[in-house]
Amino acid sequence: MHALYVFSVWLHILAATVWIGGMLFLVLVIVPWLRRGGSSDAAVFLRETGERFRNVGWACFVILAITGTFNLWARGVRLSDFTRAEWLQSPFGKMVIVKLSAFLLVLLVSAAHDFVVGPRATRAIADDPSSPQARAERRRAALLGRFNVLLALLLVAAGVMLVRGTPW
Ligand code: HEM
Repeated sequence: MHALYVFSVWLHILAATVWIGGMLFLVLVIVPWLRRGGSSDAAVFLRETGERFRNVGWACFVILAITGTFNLWARGVRLSDFTRAEWLQSPFGKMVIVKLSAFLLVLLVSAAHDFVVGPRATRAIADDPSSPQARAERRRAALLGRFNVLLALLLVAAGVMLVRGTPW
């Protein structure tokens, strides 16, 4: 069982690095390059790379949810703990709640970005990249993307504190 637990933590951290690394590459490399006119067909480039990364991202979410649940189980957490005030008030219990709430928010923000605002932005950019609508949709998509980066940083911090305790 210990080998399975170690494998689960390894897979968990790998999925986290693929998702966060991919998001930061998009935000720090691809989007600024496109903004500087890097590609004559930014809309196609953004749509195709965005759709590919969307699939990778959701695959990571499935892996993170499964391995995360197993990691919690391997650490002795049971569903009944979520009804015990003593556990919910403990630093570990509070960190689990913070982590699960942040993960739920990531799923909601990603769904809005990947399936609503993102496709709307690439369509508007394809129609007329300089139109007010394209600019507004692009701003909304960028805002959601950046909010997800902040949530990702919170999730990694919560993961580290689940294992090593809180610094306060
Ligand atoms: C986007 C989502 C997530 C990210 C980026 C993430 C990131 C991480 C990272 C980086 C660690 C390693 C911390 C360390 O060893 O210092 C970790 C550990 C952990 N994560 Fe997550 N995680 C995510 C989602 C989840 C979810 C949904 C759960 C629970 C259902 C979860 C439960 C855990 C547990 C229990 C550990 C401790 C593993 C151990 O026992 O060493 N994580 N997480």
